[in-house]
Amino acid sequence: MGKFNSLFQPLEVRRCTIPNRIVMTPMGTNFAENTGEMSFLHIDYYEQRAQGGAGLIIVENACVDYPAGSNGTTQLRLDLDSYIPRMFKLTETIHKHDTKIAVQLNHAGASAVAERINMQPVSASDLPNKKGGAIPRPLTKDEIYSIVENYAKAAKRAQIAGFDAVEIHCGHSYLISQFLSPLTNNRTDEFGGSYENRARFASLILKAVREAVGPFFPILIRISADEFLPGGNTLEDTLQLLEYFQEEADIIDVSCGLVDSIQYQIDANYLKDGWRTYLATAVKEKFNKPVITVGNIRDPKVANEIVESEQADFIGLGRQFVADPQWPLKVKEGRLDEIRKCISCNIGCSGHRIGLNRPIRCTINPSVNEGEAYKNQKV
Ligand SMILES: Cc1cc2nc3c(=O)[nH]c(=O)nc-3n(C[C@H](O)[C@H](O)[C@H](O)COP(=O)(O)O)c2cc1C
Ligand code: SF4
Repeated sequence: MGKFNSLFQPLEVRRCTIPNRIVMTPMGTNFAENTGEMSFLHIDYYEQRAQGGAGLIIVENACVDYPAGSNGTTQLRLDLDSYIPRMFKLTETIHKHDTKIAVQLNHAGASAVAERINMQPVSASDLPNKKGGAIPRPLTKDEIYSIVENYAKAAKRAQIAGFDAVEIHCGHSYLISQFLSPLTNNRTDEFGGSYENRARFASLILKAVREAVGPFFPILIRISADEFLPGGNTLEDTLQLLEYFQEEADIIDVSCGLVDSIQYQIDANYLKDGWRTYLATAVKEKFNKPVITVGNIRDPKVANEIVESEQADFIGLGRQFVADPQWPLKVKEGRLDEIRKCISCNIGCSGHRIGLNRPIRCTINPSVNEGEAYKNQKV
């Protein structure tokens, strides 16, 4: 191991020991069945990443409120008990590899597509979540409270299905982020205006989720720490908003950007490895909570240095895990020249999923699901 020791230290959070500091961040794949059930192909995909040495896998955003809150072409669901058995099959498989597994819970809000959900998408206000986007319908207070309950029920299902933690998605222009951002929230009731009011929806969700899962189950939150848009939340704003989440959030997954600043959220190739770690460091310094940093991290030296110098507790790898599921093992064993480094082209992964409604693929990994099996093929 030697040179990259810091990445391979365990960390305990609420009685859950994460065996190393390498987190696979949530990424929608379009591998789910069109019923919202996890497919066996899907389980193979995650198992490859567990075998490759991920310490914590955060499964892609799962829908807590169907159809209004759904996102993507085929998306996992956790809004009904019937999704528990297949999810359990996943967690059972992943746990064989000493990897912890969480699932990201989400309501898409105005990011839902009207033609897919057969209704006008909902949001905090009647403001589109991107330039030229459709006008959503503002939620009533009763609806807000009912969605809060749906998050709690989905979190309980995740716990029963064997997940080690849940992540509440508070970023990236989805419903919670639409409440947090002044760009999409102009409400005049207790859910709009001040930091406290804009944070109220998320804060109610976190309290309800804690109530549902009990004290020994970690809750992660993912935030867009800087929205990188004029008039949007800056890092300073986020540090204020987080005051209202700190009691229940055990790990803060520090992302950034909204739909209109996607080049920072799913980092463009000109942004250097770890360029946005300063956001996670600022959160860590203020709240003294474990944080995940993410963003074009592919170079093991950069990754190790971030953890060693305590700029962040965990490094999040998204696309790098698509490009090479074995990144952690190869780093641990010093096989750096064997790493297939993600080139941040966004063609196979985001391009397929978001642009073309296809399952994800990768420009440099010929087999995203089956691992090394392709090497046995003869042409
Ligand atoms: C195809 C794709 C799907 C994604 N889906 C999600 C998602 O479901 N939830 C989320 O929080 N972030 C999502 N992301 C963002 C990633 O988790 C990650 O934060 C981002 O890609 C930057 O990290 P990276 O440079 O290591 O890939 C997605 C990214 C990609 C490429
Ligand atoms: S398709 Fe491109 S951006 Fe996506 S994982 Fe593969 S190399 Fe990285």
